[in-house]
Amino acid sequence: MTTSWAELTGAVSACERCRLCQTRKNVVLGEGDPHAALMLVGEGPGQQEDETGRPFVGAAGQLLDRMLAAIGLDRSCVYICNIVKCRPPQNRVPEADERAACLDYLRQQVALVRPKIIVCLGSTPTRALLGDELRITRERGVWHLKKGVWFMPTYHPAALLRDADKKRPAWEDFKAIRDKLAELGALAPRTGAE
Ligand code: URA
Ligand code: SF4
Repeated sequence: MTTSWAELTGAVSACERCRLCQTRKNVVLGEGDPHAALMLVGEGPGQQEDETGRPFVGAAGQLLDRMLAAIGLDRSCVYICNIVKCRPPQNRVPEADERAACLDYLRQQVALVRPKIIVCLGSTPTRALLGDELRITRERGVWHLKKGVWFMPTYHPAALLRDADKKRPAWEDFKAIRDKLAELGALAPRTGAE
């Protein structure tokens, strides 16, 4: 039997499965439509996410919101989460044992949401979900079908803030995501946010 959201939230908020529990302020499970067709997975909470308990609320999150709005989606109609639910100190990349310890929670989130598309934001989710050998620069924009779910790796929004040359390819990826949602009959109604 699949866990319920209540059980999952309870388990994650008390979780001590890896060392990241020692330095976190708040666990960041994820948020959005619990039955969204589109799930976006980042790396792990940053400082503002750790302070607020919400995913993608800092500068990168605001850019993500604008990119979603540009394809007619509000963050409330997608589901947003991360590979690890607790902030790595100094925002370092989560280590292999931390990712492994946390992955079961993401599996449960996917089982509950049952998204049609999962977007991997940057290298960490791309490697954790699609294969450790993958390079984001080569793999971005490429669809992978796994167990009936379409996966798309694209740049992390924080990378777009550091390197403006990545914005155009990322925009192409977001348009491809919009087109795939339409093709799958899963395009949410326009929000008027454009
Ligand atoms: N970066 C991430 O990968 N996740 C967040 O939630 C915020 C910033
Ligand atoms: Fe638990 Fe994941 Fe937090 Fe580690 S990162 S303590 S596995 S919730």
